[in-house]
Amino acid sequence: MRKKIVAGNWKMNLSLEEAKALVSELKVKIDNYRNSSEGREMPQVVLFPPFPYLTRVADVFVNYDQVFLGAQNCHNEDQGAYTGEVSAMMIRSAGASHVIIGHSERRSQFGEGGIVLAEKTRQALKNGLTPVFCCGEKLPEREKNAHFKVVADQLLEGLFWMHKDQLSKVVIAYEPVWAIGTGKTATPDQAQEMHAYIRKLLADTYDQGLADEMSILYGGSCNAKNAADIFRNSDVDGGLIGGASLKPDDFFSIITALKP
Ligand code: 13P
Repeated sequence: MRKKIVAGNWKMNLSLEEAKALVSELKVKIDNYRNSSEGREMPQVVLFPPFPYLTRVADVFVNYDQVFLGAQNCHNEDQGAYTGEVSAMMIRSAGASHVIIGHSERRSQFGEGGIVLAEKTRQALKNGLTPVFCCGEKLPEREKNAHFKVVADQLLEGLFWMHKDQLSKVVIAYEPVWAIGTGKTATPDQAQEMHAYIRKLLADTYDQGLADEMSILYGGSCNAKNAADIFRNSDVDGGLIGGASLKPDDFFSIITALKP
């Protein structure tokens, strides 16, 4: 059975003090939930703090089998003279297990695309990290009805070069760019339609077994109010949450909205 996941991408937000407060509130909620009878069914939770906080957050959740930690980006090389960059090996050794690759903010603000994202994904896998690979169309692309092609091209370039055994370790996140931070969520039907399309693409390119096994998350203005409706769809395996992941009550509501 594929994994159900709620992930929180903090982006470039919070001071260390604020991050510590968020994490300790979340920890209390997760502890209470785990101690209740329904708690045993909690989905995987993955937190993506900024780099400087990784080890601190990792220490808090060190013995939690359902709480994971990830970085928001990694470099495409192993190591070397890349001032200001962070490698997958470093992220792994800081206690993280996941890394976001190809977020639309990296694509649009830092010019990342095609080959670089394929290399980053390779680096992540080589270092034992689970890549959370993002794809999604911009508004004009959806308006031109080009959204399926855009997403297919992003997956083709970023992921479909790899062997099935490697791809099975990747999580895909569909994040329509027009829904990110805008308060405009994709409707549950729009999310399901694209997720089903991605799964069919996986089945056609590889096989149905792989398609059934891979988790596909939705991201883009997902919040405590709309999460349950989005998660109810059969091809939506959870969410990659931005703004609402900074508010412990909201983020926790989203976690509990995802039924195993
Ligand atoms: P928002 O939930 O703030 O729209 O951000 C989504 C996102 O970009 C998660 O990676």
